[in-house]
Amino acid sequence: MMRVRLDDEERQVAFGDCLGRALGGHGRVYLAGELGAGKTTLARGVLRAYGHAGAVKSPTYTLVEPYELGDVRLYHFDLYRLGDPEELEFIGGRDLFAEDALCLVEWPSRGEGWLPVPDIAVTLSLAETGREARLEAGTAHGRAVLRALSAEPALGATLLEAERASP
Ligand SMILES: Nc1ncnc2c1ncn2[C@@H]1O[C@H](COP(=O)(O)OP(=O)(O)O)[C@@H](O)[C@H]1O
Ligand SMILES: [Mg+2]
Repeated sequence: MMRVRLDDEERQVAFGDCLGRALGGHGRVYLAGELGAGKTTLARGVLRAYGHAGAVKSPTYTLVEPYELGDVRLYHFDLYRLGDPEELEFIGGRDLFAEDALCLVEWPSRGEGWLPVPDIAVTLSLAETGREARLEAGTAHGRAVLRALSAEPALGATLLEAERASP
């Protein structure tokens, strides 16, 4: 488990960038938190880690926005308007999750029961200033990513809490 404080939008993006680099181009990252919690902003940072500098549109109506960034395939899901997880079958979601890609999923609660276990579950909440992010690993890959992240000097003062790396 790791908690970070992200005082402004710039830090939110910078943290997403760090997370993106730690992921090494693959994995499932679920982004929970209410509307306006900063999920898409964090996703923008992850995309920046792979060289995507432009805007990031929320795939609210299409459910998923695909990106090809060098060797990395990244799928940005937004399940806010998902009525039934069956819709994920119709759009070929199962294949996307089976690929060795990087999947970012906003509103994972809408796909509960259908979505596979995340490597990292991020929960974003409003803080006095900015946002707080809580990250939990669900797999060995996720744990390795959190270890790499907690050793990241760029995180500095934003880090509130992190599990000690096991010896
Ligand atoms: N750490 C932060 N501190 C302050 N404002 C932020 C932070 N992260 C994001 N925001 C702002 O919050 C608003 C909503 O962000 P967004 O990423 O669209 O949320 P979500 O995708 O969770 O609905 C945006 O205006 C964004 O600039
Ligand atoms: Mg969003």
